[in-house]
Amino acid sequence: MAILLSLKDTDLVPWVEALNNELGSVDLCLYPKVEDNSIIDYAIVWKHPYGDLKNYPNLKAILSCGAGVDHIVDDPDYPRSVPIVRLYDEKLSQDMCLYTLHWVLHFHSDYYQYNNLQTQKNWNQKPFKLPEKCHIGVMGLGVIGKDIADTLISFDFKVSGWGATKKPDMELLTYYYGETQIHDFLSSIDILINVLPLTTTTSNLLSENTLRLLPKGSFIINIGRGGIVNEADLIMLLDEGHLMGAALDVFATEPLPENNPLWSHPKVYITPHIAGQNNPQSAAMAIAKNIRRLENGEEPFPLYNPEKGY
Ligand code: GLV
Repeated sequence: MAILLSLKDTDLVPWVEALNNELGSVDLCLYPKVEDNSIIDYAIVWKHPYGDLKNYPNLKAILSCGAGVDHIVDDPDYPRSVPIVRLYDEKLSQDMCLYTLHWVLHFHSDYYQYNNLQTQKNWNQKPFKLPEKCHIGVMGLGVIGKDIADTLISFDFKVSGWGATKKPDMELLTYYYGETQIHDFLSSIDILINVLPLTTTTSNLLSENTLRLLPKGSFIINIGRGGIVNEADLIMLLDEGHLMGAALDVFATEPLPENNPLWSHPKVYITPHIAGQNNPQSAAMAIAKNIRRLENGEEPFPLYNPEKGY
């Protein structure tokens, strides 16, 4: 079996070691060093150059090294007949849960206010707030969104969810779906967490009209994709005081350009797309499991659905 490995801006050494450990005797071809494209069975990719994936005539599947597959399907030439497998890695998901928990506490427990108070040497204890009084909305209840919701529920936060389509198995939270229910969903949220993938439905979904549906004084955390939140509208609502703060890990353009006003906005907290970083060992384990499933004729998980766009 031959596997193409192409991970942009990544040190491949730990990946090669982890994949070799998991897969045994496979031929790992590190892009662009591939002598014969026809031997490649699987491609493990992160931000692979557009136009190249169509050049492997015997490719059985493309395995994304991230939960998102926009870096693959935005390539106008990607081979449509080849299945794409997203990455669900428990360690990556746990990292995203910890990231969101950090910002939820930052906003819910008033920690964001203590930075300013410290500059004034002001010992001002804000009253304790019960987690169950804080209503958190999770947009995007795929496996990662579900893990985030479950984590917050385990700390007694009140959690509701929204997704583009109806979903079963949402017994622990109130679940809203589709365009018609977005109003009801957003209208009572204190902290909105976006974990949605970027699709034609979700692109620019959180713009002025929708963000205004959030109650005055609410917060937003974006770990989905930048293109879902309209940055200009977000800044406007923060400036108006409708929104109180935003923790942003993903942006319409990455790296975030130096002249982007989000960098210096007093109510914005920026991290450089680090929520849910890959751990080669656990990611290689999840990818190898999917390759074994594919080799056995079983369905890999999670399989990209082109109709849904994720
Ligand atoms: C990161 O952005 C991912 O898609 O996993």
